Amino acid sequence: MIPLCIPEIRGNEWKYIKECLDTNWVSSVGKFVDRFEEEFAKYNEVKSAVVTMNGTAALQLALVALGVGEGDEVIVPSMTFISSVNAIKYVGAIPVFVDVDRETFVMDVNKVEELITEKTKAIMPVHIYGYPVEMDELNGIAKKYNLFVIEDATEALGTLYKGKLAGTLGDVGCFSFNGNKLITTGAGGMLITNNEELGKKAKYLSNQTKTITENGAMYHEEVGYNFRMPNILAAMGVAQLEKVDEYLEVKRRNARLYNDLLKGVKGITLTKEVDYVDNCYWLYSILVEDDFRMSRDELLNVLKEIGIQARPFFLPVHAMKPYSGSKCGDMNVTIDVSNRGINLPSSVSLTEEEVRIICDVIKNK
Ligand SMILES: Cc1ncc(COP(=O)(O)O)c(C=O)c1O
Repeated sequence: MIPLCIPEIRGNEWKYIKECLDTNWVSSVGKFVDRFEEEFAKYNEVKSAVVTMNGTAALQLALVALGVGEGDEVIVPSMTFISSVNAIKYVGAIPVFVDVDRETFVMDVNKVEELITEKTKAIMPVHIYGYPVEMDELNGIAKKYNLFVIEDATEALGTLYKGKLAGTLGDVGCFSFNGNKLITTGAGGMLITNNEELGKKAKYLSNQTKTITENGAMYHEEVGYNFRMPNILAAMGVAQLEKVDEYLEVKRRNARLYNDLLKGVKGITLTKEVDYVDNCYWLYSILVEDDFRMSRDELLNVLKEIGIQARPFFLPVHAMKPYSGSKCGDMNVTIDVSNRGINLPSSVSLTEEEVRIICDVIKNK
């Protein structure tokens, strides 16, 4: 069995978590919470980082902190994990769906402007499977219309766009440390920003807007949220972050091998490579075209029977029950890509031999 994407736990995780248990610092304050935020901010070269209980909470927190709420429109791709869209819904805002690009599977920035109305308040680019949205163009549009940019970088830790890290390119970037992500805390998330005031506000909102009065009582000025991450999980996060560059190197090495072995296979389209993008390759992805010798779903079945865990691309969110009837642009590429896409095994523990086996099945079985 070759799994799709499993965690890699071979650093200081046990040591740091044991320290939390031994010292009784298990809850939402503690040195590892502070360290995880500081070290994540340092890694991404940003001023503020606020840790949360998951990536969805980080996205919701970003929207609330920026003042996006009731009746505001937020432009988001339909081909994403539903969390991006649900976060918009949670704050009472309205998701407006934009199509994706055929070669990169991420938001097509050329189709964003036509969806902007006087109600639009923000754009949420999602760096799907690790590939970054064309952020220079998108930031240009956001500037022109005075919109916030909230990057859903949950799948793109370590991705570089024109030398800058994904998640640092908009007003706020959000990450996930779910078990299948590049680094994991079991469940967890992080919000990052270069706007220190915004970072402070997000931290305050994530902790029930708690302040302490002179005699030590708790006072709350606004309705806040309990989005905090416990010290035990932050301890795991610190240990995982120590390994992030090593893990990225393996992911990229395996992606290069996939590219070499699958290049030129009739009916298989690879993810676009351009010189100004260094994809983290969170999930290595291909499209199965009409001239491949079998359908996308037949290939998924062949892989499954051999014990190779692959996954079809995300289904378009705009066609799911909670969002049917939502405002959308043309969704032709989204539907096409969603019907053709496959994520191939991408764990850090994936060996070169396993990549060769997978590619051999795609080419010959
Ligand atoms: C694109 C995208 N957005 C948001 C999330 C939400 O993250 P979490 O599962 O940590 O809430 C995920 C991952 O799960 C994701 O893949």
